[in-house]
Amino acid sequence: MIKGLPLIFLSWFLFTHHASAQRSTYIIHMDKSSKPMAFPSCHHWYSSTLHSIKSINPTSSDGHYPPSRLIHTYDNAFHGFSVVLSKDELEALKESPGFISAYNDGPVTPDTTHTYKFLSLNTASGIWPASQYGKDVVIGVVDSGIWPESQSFRDEGMTEIPARWKGICQVGQDFNSSMCNKKIIGARFFNNGVLANNPDVTISMNSTRDTFGHGTHVASIAAGSAVENVSFFGYAPGTARGVAPRARLAIYKVLWDEGSYESDALAGIDQAVADGVDILSISLSYRTIDLYENPIAIAAFGAMEKGILVSVSAGNRGPNFATVLEGIPWAVIVASGTVDRWFAGDLMLGNGLTITGWTMFPARATVRNLPLYYNETLSACNSTELLAEAPSAIIICVQSFETAEFSDQISYVSQSNARAAIFISEESSILRSTDFPYPGVVINPEEAKPVIRYASNNSEATASISFQQTILGLDPRPAPTVAESSSRGPARSYPGILKPDIMAPGVLILAAYNPDASVASIGSNVGLSSDYNLESGTSMACPHISGIAALIKAVHPEWTPAAIRSAMMTTANPLDNTRKPIKDQARFFDNDVATPLDMGAGQVDPNRALDPGLIYDVTPQEYVNLICALNYTREQTQSIIRSRSHNCSNPSTDLNYPAFVALYDPTEERTTLTQRFQRTVTNVGTGAATYRVKVKKPKASVVTVSPETLVFQKKNEKQRFSLTIRYKTYEEYVINHGSITWVEEKGKHTVRSPIVVTPAEPSG
Ligand SMILES: *[C@@H]1O[C@H](CO)[C@@H](O)[C@H](O)[C@H]1NC(C)=O
Ligand SMILES: *[C@@H]1O[C@H](CO)[C@@H](O)[C@H](O)[C@H]1NC(C)=O
Ligand SMILES: *[C@@H]1O[C@H](CO)[C@@H](O)[C@H](O)[C@H]1NC(C)=O
Ligand SMILES: *[C@@H]1O[C@H](CO)[C@@H](O)[C@H](O)[C@H]1NC(C)=O
Ligand SMILES: *[C@@H]1O[C@H](CO)[C@@H](O)[C@H](O)[C@H]1NC(C)=O
Ligand SMILES: *[C@@H]1O[C@H](CO)[C@@H](O)[C@H](O)[C@H]1NC(C)=O
Ligand SMILES: *[C@@H]1O[C@H](CO)[C@@H](O)[C@H](O)[C@H]1NC(C)=O
Ligand SMILES: *[C@@H]1O[C@H](CO)[C@@H](O)[C@H](O)[C@H]1NC(C)=O
Repeated sequence: MIKGLPLIFLSWFLFTHHASAQRSTYIIHMDKSSKPMAFPSCHHWYSSTLHSIKSINPTSSDGHYPPSRLIHTYDNAFHGFSVVLSKDELEALKESPGFISAYNDGPVTPDTTHTYKFLSLNTASGIWPASQYGKDVVIGVVDSGIWPESQSFRDEGMTEIPARWKGICQVGQDFNSSMCNKKIIGARFFNNGVLANNPDVTISMNSTRDTFGHGTHVASIAAGSAVENVSFFGYAPGTARGVAPRARLAIYKVLWDEGSYESDALAGIDQAVADGVDILSISLSYRTIDLYENPIAIAAFGAMEKGILVSVSAGNRGPNFATVLEGIPWAVIVASGTVDRWFAGDLMLGNGLTITGWTMFPARATVRNLPLYYNETLSACNSTELLAEAPSAIIICVQSFETAEFSDQISYVSQSNARAAIFISEESSILRSTDFPYPGVVINPEEAKPVIRYASNNSEATASISFQQTILGLDPRPAPTVAESSSRGPARSYPGILKPDIMAPGVLILAAYNPDASVASIGSNVGLSSDYNLESGTSMACPHISGIAALIKAVHPEWTPAAIRSAMMTTANPLDNTRKPIKDQARFFDNDVATPLDMGAGQVDPNRALDPGLIYDVTPQEYVNLICALNYTREQTQSIIRSRSHNCSNPSTDLNYPAFVALYDPTEERTTLTQRFQRTVTNVGTGAATYRVKVKKPKASVVTVSPETLVFQKKNEKQRFSLTIRYKTYEEYVINHGSITWVEEKGKHTVRSPIVVTPAEPSG
């Protein structure tokens, strides 16, 4: 006993000493209304607060707060600062007047899936003339910076920068003020958080210049100028253009080769709000956390209050239930879908048969009338030893569970004597991969039957392969489908509001890139770069919505962010190009249709969004009413609302949203549910209008709407209705969905809202 005591004591002592001395970066929320009048600015107040906690803290040697440890102060999207503190100092800070909350600065990652490189295309055209192509709307892009020399950011024909713009073109490494123009009207960079978290790191590109390519890609999707004759090594040739080609870009670099931190992302968003952006495009992910701890949610609340629409990628954690990362009720959360374009190579057999397969080999290789060789053993293509005996011919590789991954097969084959390969596989992920370092085509097992028959029965069999083909149209699958990796709802932060909100193209999108980055390869050691790159993910879907929001904003500058979101959601298309319900790529073989938890209201339809007929608007106070109903502590609530004087007298989760989510408890043996919603719609058509409701009820439900007819005498008039869902089932964990549509009588408007009945939590 006694012998052990000093040891226990010692280890306890070491532990606490370590904990109190260890410093971390924290993001601190402060209540601005508590600032004493004596301080001229919040910055002075925060510095003084930090000074006082240092001086009461005996571990501090000099009693002075080193100013370098105050990382950023935030004064626009929310109030507070980021700082490096020890645990003791944090405890002392919590006692300071005005303190609301603190949380750890965490890492942040961009939302591009590197393993799946998919393509898509934006076809928005009718809304362009009406909006003058998004003229003068400013889109703030918070990402990895920009490659300013890209043709996509030329400013020919653009007018002078509006006087209201307050941003700057920050000078830095390889980036001077001439890099901005009438397209890129702002450029700033934020890396104090990277430096604070990694004190020994050297920033390799200390400026807004994009060394990665992600930020350049995202910015050019949202607002790139038209550039003719571009392609990805011959694939997807044509004119690259952003969704809002006359909108302006303001670039906030917060992602670094050396790391990426929430404190820097917050500083970027905060500055964008101060600079006067109209739209914020955020293709970043944070940890899955509650709204009051989620920096994008908090900053987006402040942006929303200032009339800025915030568009955020849903994340690439799909296809499982409840994987959406950002469940922010006051932002637009964007899911990713496919488009009707794919890349191909033709396989022509010596007997005249031609099969179109998938290829992305990044060159026009000559594979003409070469011998075609099939041998069952060899076709495993699963080791260098096996392939050492491969003939100088086109060989056939069959992918199965026992053999190897496509990426391994192609790497083994590229080290062999074979001249080209035919890969037989039905894995859908391969049929979208841009990583194709060896000449070959991918075909499915059904298509492969005549090829194997021909090769095994003819010693003189030959074949040719042509590359660099781009196919538009219905083949091979309807489009859009929900991309497999797109994160799915409901949001864990609050499942009662539909997230994601909407879907946009996010698969194999061609857009500008960092021309120095390696984006394709030949063999194992030749890297290739390109001014334009194909990328996939919700990161690519998000800037489509940012661009479309800019177009709508150009036409309707008075609309709130909620009104613009409502316009996009109620006009979104739930059908694909075969006029059947949009399918989910993850469930394609079950022929299962996507639910609103996968794609929100459906695929965005920019031309219809311009003229939605009715909108479901939301005021900032109504969002406060929602937050007040979420059973947060006072401090948690204040973290989002940022003020102690907020009005929580009317809490309500029934937000005026253009979607209806009824949550049930799946653990009960028999589910019965009755949920009533109240909604107010505003007539934004040209004048008097009458709308009649059309209901498509979810399975096992009864839906009643009252009244069933809404009569508007004039523009901007509001009408209320209620919707009640009664649901009864013995099935557990099923998601049932339907919709209500307000159909204008003797008019063209249809205003559709999805209805979902879902468990709030995943099974198991
Ligand atoms: C980066 O550039 C900024 C502004 O030019 C400068 O203040 C800062 O010291 C630089 N940081 C590093 C790590 O070089
Ligand atoms: C900025 O850099 C470019 C290219 O290095 C140069 O041509 C230009 O004169 C510079 N502009 C200024 C204002 O220094
Ligand atoms: C693009 O290609 C077309 C057809 O080859 C050619 O006529 C046109 O001049 C090219 N445009 C540019 C800007 O190079
Ligand atoms: C098939 O290939 C394997 C490995 O290269 C070889 O050992 C075998 O002899 C071949 N079979 C025939 C029938 O050619
Ligand atoms: C290659 O695949 C065959 C089955 O087709 C299997 O028997 C063999 O063990 C595999 N070899 C390697 C190295 O994985
Ligand atoms: C080769 O041809 C014969 C006769 O046409 C056919 O019966 C046989 O199935 C073929 N072999 C293969 C491997 O398809
Ligand atoms: C808040 O708590 C009340 C009382 O426990 C409960 O009825 C309500 O469902 C909770 N609200 C939310 C959004 O969780
Ligand atoms: C709070 O809001 C309600 C309406 O939601 C209003 O009646 C009340 O006056 C407000 N209270 C304050 C203090 O603003």
